[in-house]
Amino acid sequence: MKYFILFGPPGAGKGTQAAKLVEKFKFKHLSTGDLLREEIKNGTELGKKAKALIDKGSLVPDEVVEGMIASQFEKNTSVGGFLLDGFPRTTAQAEHLDAMLKARGEEVTSVISIMIPDEMVMERIRSRALIEGRADDANDEIIANRISTYHAKTEPVIEFYKAAGKYQEINGVGTIEEIFDKICGII
Ligand code: AP5
Ligand code: MG
Repeated sequence: MKYFILFGPPGAGKGTQAAKLVEKFKFKHLSTGDLLREEIKNGTELGKKAKALIDKGSLVPDEVVEGMIASQFEKNTSVGGFLLDGFPRTTAQAEHLDAMLKARGEEVTSVISIMIPDEMVMERIRSRALIEGRADDANDEIIANRISTYHAKTEPVIEFYKAAGKYQEINGVGTIEEIFDKICGII
């Protein structure tokens, strides 16, 4: 089974590219952000606890997302591969994913990182806010917290996968099609 990770800061285009990749390669798309927003929409206990953290741009606890991913792996047994988006986002999550996959006799295939500068994160999320109405896109203060959380907690994941020889980075500045072609080239 293939396990690709789409990595990158908020607004880098992970969700946009994932939608196109799923169509082309028939992967199962697992976005922890989407799964959490679904829990919030359904008013579950997990959703209620996660909402306060997500809405201010902070991460939810590692165990929460690790549990969600584990249950998705259990549920989706007949897919061609997984495309993880927004997970792992801390070194602890990356270590946990390795252990989870090892227990299944599997491993991460490759990490594809879409990189854009912080100013562009701000611009793209401000524009998306006008269309999608996500609570964590609502104002500059929240977006700035997501950016600083990314630098503090998520960026170290890059070194983890570089050390494993699985990290590939692409410049995320360009048209959606240009970025898509680059990712397809890697896959
Ligand atoms: P999550 O939903 O994962 O949000 P994120 O990582 O902040 O990323 P976004 O979804 O905002 O951006 P994206 O990279 O998908 O970009 P998009 O394609 O939409 O997480 C939300 C929250 O959930 C977290 O803050 C945290 O609280 C919690 N959470 C989730 N996972 C967690 C985890 N593992 N651990 C702990 N907590 C977790 O594109 C953005 C915009 O740009 C769109 O409008 C798009 O149309 C546009 N765009 C895309 N590509 C281009 C392009 N090439 N040119 C111009 N515009 C473009
Ligand atoms: Mg997304």
